[in-house]
Amino acid sequence: MDINGCKFVPLKKRTGVKFTKILFSISFVSVIGSGYVIWNQFSLRPVPLESVFPGKVWSKTIPQLPKLDGVGEPRAENCGKCHTEIYKEWQSSTHAHALSDLQFQAELSKPGQPEWICLNCHIPVQNQRETRIEALNHGDFNRPIEAINPGFDLIMKNEAVTCATCHVRVDEVGKAYVLGGNGKTSPPHPVRIDQQKLRTRCLDCHNETYNLSSSLVCYFKTGDEMKEAQPHFPGKDCVSCHLPDVKRSFVDGVLKKPIRNSHKHAFIGGGVPKEFSLYEKQIPGGYKPGVILNGWEQSKSEEIKITYQNANAGHYVPSGDPERFLRLELVFLDEAQREIEKKVSLIGQTWKWNPEAELVSENRLRPKETRIWKEKIPSNQVTKIIFRIYHVKLKETTSAYMSSSVKHADPFIQTKISSLKENYPHSSIILESTFDLKSKRASETSLQELFKRNEKRRGE
Ligand code: HEC
Ligand code: HEC
Ligand code: HEC
Ligand code: HEC
Ligand code: HEC
Repeated sequence: MDINGCKFVPLKKRTGVKFTKILFSISFVSVIGSGYVIWNQFSLRPVPLESVFPGKVWSKTIPQLPKLDGVGEPRAENCGKCHTEIYKEWQSSTHAHALSDLQFQAELSKPGQPEWICLNCHIPVQNQRETRIEALNHGDFNRPIEAINPGFDLIMKNEAVTCATCHVRVDEVGKAYVLGGNGKTSPPHPVRIDQQKLRTRCLDCHNETYNLSSSLVCYFKTGDEMKEAQPHFPGKDCVSCHLPDVKRSFVDGVLKKPIRNSHKHAFIGGGVPKEFSLYEKQIPGGYKPGVILNGWEQSKSEEIKITYQNANAGHYVPSGDPERFLRLELVFLDEAQREIEKKVSLIGQTWKWNPEAELVSENRLRPKETRIWKEKIPSNQVTKIIFRIYHVKLKETTSAYMSSSVKHADPFIQTKISSLKENYPHSSIILESTFDLKSKRASETSLQELFKRNEKRRGE
C-alpha cells in the first residue's frame, strides 16, 4: 500500500478506455444512458475552477508573475544574488525539493493521478507551469482544460516551493512586488509590507483537509493542531519555530546593509531530509526533535519506566503527512552488549484506504503531552537498556512497492527509485538514551552524533 499526504487510491481513469465503456453501455444499458455517456465524454462543458472548488487556494496557481523591477525574472536564483545566505538555506530545504522528491515523482507518475492538483501545492506559481488551467470539463477534476502557457519558465519550475511562492505578487496595475514582513528597509525592488499575510501563508498548504472523492483525501491539519497548542505556546506561530530568528544582514555583506532580525530559511521539520548529503544541514538549520525524554526510573519490582513528552512541537507529533510515525524502542542488553530482548511501540495514524479512505486510529502526541512506558526487565542478565526514537517518513514496505511499481516516471528518476533505499532517507534516529542498571545513571547520545549516524543509515 502506498500513501502520501494527499492520499490517492484507485482513481477513475482519465481518458482512453472510453470506447469499450461506450460500447458496453450501448449494448447493455438504455440508449438514453449511453447517449448521456457519449455527451459527457465528448462534449465540452467548461466549469470554472472557482465554481468547482470555491475558496480553495490550492485549486489555482499564483497568477503569472512579470519581471520584478531591480531583480528580473522572479526566480530564487535571482533573489539569491543578493540574499545569499537565505538562498543557500532555502536550497537545502524540503521546499526546494518538493518537485524533485523521489516519492513525489513516483506518486505523480501513477497513471490517472490528478497531476495539476498535486502541482498546485508543489510548484504553485503559474510561471512554473507548462499549461494554464482555468476550468474543468463538466466540473470533473480528472478533466482539466489546459492551454499552453507562453510564460513558462523551466528554471523556476525546478525551484518548486520557490521564494516567489510566499514573497512575490502582482499589484492592481499588473506590476510585480515583493511581499515583506519588515518595512523600513532599502531594497532595489518594490515591496509591500504585510507581515501577517506572509506568516500565515503556510496554512494554505499545511492545513487542508478535503475529500476529492471517497478514496482521494487530503489530510494535513498542522494549523488546527497549532490552534490547540496555543495555550502552551502563547504568541508562537509556524514561523517562530520553523524560520528561527537570526541576527544578520538580509543581504550579502558587500551590500553593506544593517544587521537586523532575520529568519533562517531552511524550513527544518521532522529531521528526515530529502538527500543523505542534507543531514549535515539539519542542526545548523534549526532542527529540534519534538519529543524529549524526561527520565528513567527503575522500581524494585524489576520494572523499568520511562517518561517522555512532546515538549517542543506546537502541534501533534508526528504532524503533516499521515504516513509519518515514530518508532520507539527499548533494547535490553547483557554484559557483553548482546541484545536479550527488544520492545517496540509506534506513534502515528492508521488509515484504511479501501473502499473508502478512513482514519481508523491514531495515538499521536498532543502538544506538551507526557507519556509513560513501563516494561518488565526480561532477565537478570540485563545490564543496560537503550531507549531510542526513530522518526520514520517512509516505510520499507512502501518503498519496496514504489521501487517495483514505478514504470511511467522519467528514466533518470526510475533509476533512482529502483534503488530507493540508497538514494532516499527513510527515517532518522532522533533520540537515544542508555540506562545503566548498576549505576542507575542514564546518558543521552548527542544530536550531532545521531545525525552523523543517520547520514550513514539506510532504510526504515
Ligand atoms: C493542499 C496542498 C497539497 C496538495 C494539493 C498536494 N500536496 Fe503533497 N504535500 C503537501 C505538503 C504540505 C506536504 C508536506 C507534509 C509533510 O512534510 O508532512 C506534502 C508532501 C508530499 C509528499 C512528500 C513525501 C511524504 O510522504 O511526506 C508527497 C510524495 C506528496 N506530497 C505527494 C502529493 C501528490 C501525489 C499529490 C497530488 C495527488 C499532492 N501531494 C498534492 C501539500 C500538498
Ligand atoms: C539586487 C539585489 C537584490 C535582489 C536581486 C533581491 N533583493 Fe530583496 N532586498 C535587497 C535589499 C538591499 C533589501 C533591503 C535590505 C535592508 O535594507 O536591510 C531587500 C529586502 C528584501 C525583503 C525584506 C523587505 C522588508 O522590508 O520586509 C524581502 C522579503 C526580499 N528582499 C525578498 C526578495 C525576493 C523574494 C527576491 C527575488 C524575487 C529579492 N528580494 C531579490 C536586495 C535584493
Ligand atoms: C505552496 C505550498 C506551501 C506553502 C505555502 C508552505 N509549504 Fe511547507 N511544504 C510544502 C510541501 C509540498 C512540502 C513537502 C515537500 C516534499 O516533501 O516533497 C513542505 C514541507 C515543509 C516542511 C518540511 C517537513 C519535513 O519534515 O520534511 C516544513 C517544516 C514546512 N514545509 C514548513 C512550512 C512553513 C513554516 C511555511 C510557511 C512559512 C510553509 N511550509 C509554507 C508546501 C508548502
Ligand atoms: C514558505 C514561504 C517562504 C519561502 C518559500 C521563502 N520565504 Fe522568505 N520569508 C518568509 C517569512 C514567513 C518571513 C518572515 C516574515 C516576518 O515575520 O518578518 C520571510 C522573510 C524573508 C526576508 C526578510 C529577512 C528575514 O530573514 O526575515 C527575506 C529577505 C526573504 N524572506 C527572502 C527570501 C528568499 C530570497 C527566498 C527564496 C530563496 C525566500 N525568502 C523563501 C517566508 C518564505
Ligand atoms: C512551538 C514550535 C512549533 C510550532 C509553533 C510549529 N512547529 Fe512544526 N515542528 C516543530 C518541531 C519541534 C517539529 C519536529 C517534530 C518531530 O520531532 O518530528 C516540527 C515538525 C513539523 C513538520 C514535520 C512533521 C513532523 O511531525 O515532524 C511539519 C510539516 C511542520 N512542523 C509544519 C509546521 C507548520 C505548518 C506550523 C504552523 C501551522 C508549525 N509546524 C508550527 C515545532 C513547531
